[in-house]
Amino acid sequence: KTIYRGDYRAPTHLIDSIRLEFDLNAEETLVKSTLEVRPNPECTEKDPPLFLNGEDITLRSVSIDGRELKDGEYKVDSNGLTIPGITSAQKLEIVNTFSPKANTALSGIYASGVNLMSQCEAQGFRRITFFEDRPDVLARYTTVIRGATEDFPVMLSNGNLTEEKSLEDGRREVTYVDPFPKPCYLFALVAGKLVSRASKFDLKDGRTVDLSVWVDPQDLDKTEHTLESLKRAIRWDEERWGLELDLKDFKIVATNDFNFGAMENKGLNIFNSRCALANPKVATDSDYLRIEGVVGHEYFHNWTGDRVTLRDWFQLTLKEGLTVFRDQEFSADMLGEPSARAVQRIRDVSVLRAAQFMEDAGPMAHPIRPESYQNINNFYTSTVYEKGAEVIRMLQTLLGRETFRKGFDLYIARNDGHAVTCEAFINAMAEASGRDLSEFTNWYSQAGTPRVTVRRHWDEVNHRLTLNVRQSTPPTPGQSVKKPFLIPFPVAFLNSRGEEMPVQLAEEDEAPAPGTRMFELTDETAEFVFGGLEEEPVVSLNRGFAAPIILDAGLSQEELAFLAANDPDPFNRWDAMNRLLIDAVHAQTRARLLKTPEDVSPLVISAASKILRDENLSPAFKAVALTMPGEKLVAEEDPLIDPHAVHAGWIAVRQAIGEKNISAFLETAQANIVEGPYEPTPEKAGKRALRNLALGYAHAAGSPRAAIMIKDQFMTANNLTDKLAALHMMANSQTPAKQDMEVDALKAWYHEPLLINKWLTIQATAPSFPGEARVLERVRELTRCPFFSLKNPNNVYALLLGYFQQNPSEFHLADGSGYAFWAEMVLELNRINPQVAARVARSLDNWRRYTPALAEKMHAALESVEAKRSELSPNVAEIIEKALGN
Ligand code: ARG
Ligand code: ZN
Repeated sequence: KTIYRGDYRAPTHLIDSIRLEFDLNAEETLVKSTLEVRPNPECTEKDPPLFLNGEDITLRSVSIDGRELKDGEYKVDSNGLTIPGITSAQKLEIVNTFSPKANTALSGIYASGVNLMSQCEAQGFRRITFFEDRPDVLARYTTVIRGATEDFPVMLSNGNLTEEKSLEDGRREVTYVDPFPKPCYLFALVAGKLVSRASKFDLKDGRTVDLSVWVDPQDLDKTEHTLESLKRAIRWDEERWGLELDLKDFKIVATNDFNFGAMENKGLNIFNSRCALANPKVATDSDYLRIEGVVGHEYFHNWTGDRVTLRDWFQLTLKEGLTVFRDQEFSADMLGEPSARAVQRIRDVSVLRAAQFMEDAGPMAHPIRPESYQNINNFYTSTVYEKGAEVIRMLQTLLGRETFRKGFDLYIARNDGHAVTCEAFINAMAEASGRDLSEFTNWYSQAGTPRVTVRRHWDEVNHRLTLNVRQSTPPTPGQSVKKPFLIPFPVAFLNSRGEEMPVQLAEEDEAPAPGTRMFELTDETAEFVFGGLEEEPVVSLNRGFAAPIILDAGLSQEELAFLAANDPDPFNRWDAMNRLLIDAVHAQTRARLLKTPEDVSPLVISAASKILRDENLSPAFKAVALTMPGEKLVAEEDPLIDPHAVHAGWIAVRQAIGEKNISAFLETAQANIVEGPYEPTPEKAGKRALRNLALGYAHAAGSPRAAIMIKDQFMTANNLTDKLAALHMMANSQTPAKQDMEVDALKAWYHEPLLINKWLTIQATAPSFPGEARVLERVRELTRCPFFSLKNPNNVYALLLGYFQQNPSEFHLADGSGYAFWAEMVLELNRINPQVAARVARSLDNWRRYTPALAEKMHAALESVEAKRSELSPNVAEIIEKALGN
C-alpha cells in the first residue's frame, strides 16, 4: 500500500502522557500502558474512533477510567486496536505482551545476547504496545521497569531515574521520568548485564552532567574513545551552534545486534557496536573517525530531531540531512587546519558519489523529501541523509555562514517542542536572510542528479572568456520533466603559473581580489563573460563541491593534469586527480572491450607521481588523491556495464602507476612508518594511509620487497589499521602465504565479533585466482560456518553486502549463479529480518544498466523473488517491485 505525502491528516487524538510498566522476561514481557488521551481540537473529523497501532503483540485487556472494556467495545486486528467513542479526555489502560526472544526483526524490544534492547524508529514502538505510532504525537513518558535482579542488574530508559527499589519477589523495580515530551520513536529501554564507563562533564552554562557508555563486560576496554568523542560533541554543539545538553544524564549503549548505525533515543542513544567500540586491536583509523562522527550525529539529534521533531516521516531529511551536515562539520572541525578539513570533505563527497548518485540514477530515485512510499524503512537512504546534507550545505553557501547561523537559531527557537515540516527550516532561513528561497525548494521536490555542462570560449583579441553553462536533470521514476535548480556556482581562474587570478565580469570596471567567486545558476542556461584576464585561464569550478551535481567542465586531460598539480583548492586538486584516474580506467576498459591494447596514459602516471613526490602535500591528502576510484563508481558512467572489463581496466591502471613509480612507492612506504604506541591522530592516520597505499601499488606491480614488507607488517603491527591493510593486500594477491595469514587472523580474531566481521568482508571482497575456489563458493560456505548468523545484521552486511555490492567482478558471474545466491539469501532474510532483507535486496537495483546477457539474468533473479510475492514482507516487496519497474 502506497502512502502519499499530500494525504497527511492531523492525529484524531492527542496523548499527553504515557506511563509504561514493564515486567521483563526474554520469553514473554508484559506491558501495562496508561495513556491520558483526549480528542485533538485540530482534527476536522467528527467523533472519530481512536486507532492505536499494534503489531506482533498480544492484547490482554483494555480499560477506560478503570472499567475494563468488553468484546465489541473495541476491535483488534493485526494492525492495531480501534476504540470508538473517546470524545473527551480519558484515562486508557492497556495490558499486552510480546516476546523479545522471538523478535528477529530487531524492531521493538528484542534480545541481544543476554540483554534486551529497543529500536523504535521508525515504527517499532507499535511492536511494544498499542499507541498512535506517528511522530506528531508528543507525550510525557514515565517508565517503570521490573526485572529479576540476576538477569537484569541494569535497567535503563529515557530521562531521570526517580525511584529504585527491591520487590518482595526478589525482583527490582526502577522508574524513569523523561521531562521532555517526545514522539514514541524516541522511546528506549535497555536491560541486562551491562557495565559502564562514566564521567562528569562541565557544561558551558555551569551545570555538571553525567555521561556514560554502557557495554557488555568484555567490551569495557573499548569505550574510552566513545566517551571522549561524546565530550567533544557536546562542547562543539555549544561552541558552534550555541546548543546545550538539556539533561542531567546522557547515556550511550552498544550492542552487537542492530539493524543500522545508531539511534538518537532521548538521553539514551543506542549504537551498533561497530559504531561505538574501539581500541587499537579492534578498530582501524577509519573506525575511530566513524565512531566520532556517529557519536556526534546521535548527540546532535538531541536538538535537530528530538527537541525539534518531525510532523510525519516524509520530513525525514529535516532531521537527517541537517544532522548529517552537522556531523560532517563536527568531523571537519576536529581535524583542524584547512587542508585536513579538505580530506574530510573529500571523504564525504566520495561517499555521496559512490552511493547517492547511483541511487538517484536508479529505480529507487526519490527527492530528499519523497512524495510517496510503501515502507518508510526503505527511505533511510543516502538521498535523504547525504544528499539532504548537501542541500543544507548549499543553503549555508548561498546565505553565508553568519546568516545561516541566524536562520538556524531562529529555526530552533521557533520550533522547539514541535513536530514540523521541512518548510519550518526553509522559512527560518528565508526570514533570517530576507531572501525568497522558493526557487531553492526544487531541491526538496525533484529527484535526480543535475548535470551541469560548461563550454568555454576564449576571445584572444579582447582577452575575454565566455562560459556557457547549461543544466539539465534526467527523468526519474514518476518525474519525467524537471525544473531548473538554484545552484551555487563558484568560479576560479588559474594562470599558467597555477596562481589564482581575479574573477571579473567583463562589464565590471574593477577587479576583485584573486580567488574564488560565487555565482548562482537559476535557469536552464546561463552565460558569463569575464574580462581583465592577462592570459587564458584554466578554470576551477564547483570548488569544494559546492553543489551535488555532475559537472562536465569540458576540461582536457592536460588541463586536469595541470589542476591536479597546481590547484590551490585542495578539493578540486583531488577531484582533478580522481577524474584522471577514472578516465584512465575508462580508457583501459574500452581497450579491452574493443580488443585494441593501449598503454595507460603517461599523463595520469606523471600526475600521480607528481602528487606522490610533492613535499607540500600532507600524507593524508596524498593517500586520498592517489586512491583508485572504486570499480562501481567508474562503471556507473559506462553506457552499458561490463563488470569484468572494468575490473581488468582497473587492475591495469593500478599496475601501470605502480610499475612506473615502484621505487618512489617503496621509499614512501619506508618514510611513513609510524613509530611508538598507536594513536588515531590525523597526522599518524595520514601516514599509515599513505604507507599502506604505497605498499599496495608496489605490491600490485609485483615488487617482492613490498610483499615482504606487507607480511612483516601483518606479523608485527601494533594496531588494526596496519594489520588489516596487510591482510587485505595479501588476500587480493596470489601469494602462497595468503592462506596461512588468513587462518592466523581467523584464529586470533575468533572471539571478537568486530574482527570476525572484518575478516568476513575480506573474504567477500577479494578476487579469486585460477585454481582457487570462486568467491561465490567461499561466501556460501561461510554462511554455514559457526561464526556467521543470518540473524546478525553485522554478519550479513560484512559478508553478503560485501560480496553483492563490493565485489562486482565476482558477483556478476556469467552463468547468473551469483544472482541466484542473492535471491536465495533475500528470501531467507525476508523471513528473519525484513529491514535487513530489504537492504540486501537493493543490490540488484540497477540491473538495467548491465550488458544484456547479465541484465537478463539479474532480471530473472528479481522475478524469482517476485514469484514469492505472498511471502514477501512489505519492505522487500517494495524494493523488488520498484527494481522491476512494475
Ligand atoms: N535516526 C537514526 C540515525 O540516523 C537511524 C534510524 C534508522 N531507522 C530505520 N528504520 N532505518 O541516526
Ligand atoms: Zn540520524
